[in-house]
Amino acid sequence: MDVAAIVVAAGEGERYGSRKQFCDLGGRSVAARSIDAARSVAAFVVLVVPADSTEESHGADAVVAGGSSRAASVRAGLAVIEDDTRVIVVHDAARPLASPALFTAVVGALGDGSLAAAVPGLAIADTVKRIGGVDDPIVIETLDRATLVAVQTPQAFLADTLRQAHRDGRDATDDASLVEAIGGKVGVVAGEPRNRKLTTGDDLAWMLAALDV
Ligand code: CTP
Ligand code: MG
Repeated sequence: MDVAAIVVAAGEGERYGSRKQFCDLGGRSVAARSIDAARSVAAFVVLVVPADSTEESHGADAVVAGGSSRAASVRAGLAVIEDDTRVIVVHDAARPLASPALFTAVVGALGDGSLAAAVPGLAIADTVKRIGGVDDPIVIETLDRATLVAVQTPQAFLADTLRQAHRDGRDATDDASLVEAIGGKVGVVAGEPRNRKLTTGDDLAWMLAALDV
């Protein structure tokens, strides 16, 4: 299958305190590790960096400037992918421990043609409750966690569907929700507990321990 990957690395890392995606993680940058894993399925990898960045490619085939939201950064990556590419995988640079097997699994899930997208999902160990809001921390209801998953990247898409989902310029915390919004069928494959997102300094310490470096 003809596959390209977009690795989004244009965030500011506010919760972390710096552009975490370019930090060193055991001798290689976080972004380089993410790009490397994407290579297991993608013939072309584009890295999306902050507009004012002078970062090198970290091993990607192309580097483009991102936008002020994650979705805008994905659109910047989409703009440099060939029109005849059939499948596009979108991955957060901030998830450097996603395995090559996970990339293969999400792309493979599109194989029989019944899905528009596939995402990794993990069962939730905690009880999950809906509350009134951050300013109204009163419980509204307890959700059935058997029907909930915590979703990660990499996320694989039929390229035409991903382009269509992004056409109206909407924002979302992941791309699959934009596909859901246009009625696309999104499948879930088994996520990886190790595929944690680098969000705070604690996550970096956890990753260093996981890598045993
Ligand atoms: N991202 C991006 N463009 C943006 C915002 C985020 O490419 N405008 C990327 C980040 O670089 C990261 C991924 O999207 O690889 C997931 O975002 P997140 O973990 O929230 O990273 P940041 O937005 O950088 O962190 P924070 O929200 O703490 O500022
Ligand atoms: Mg963010």
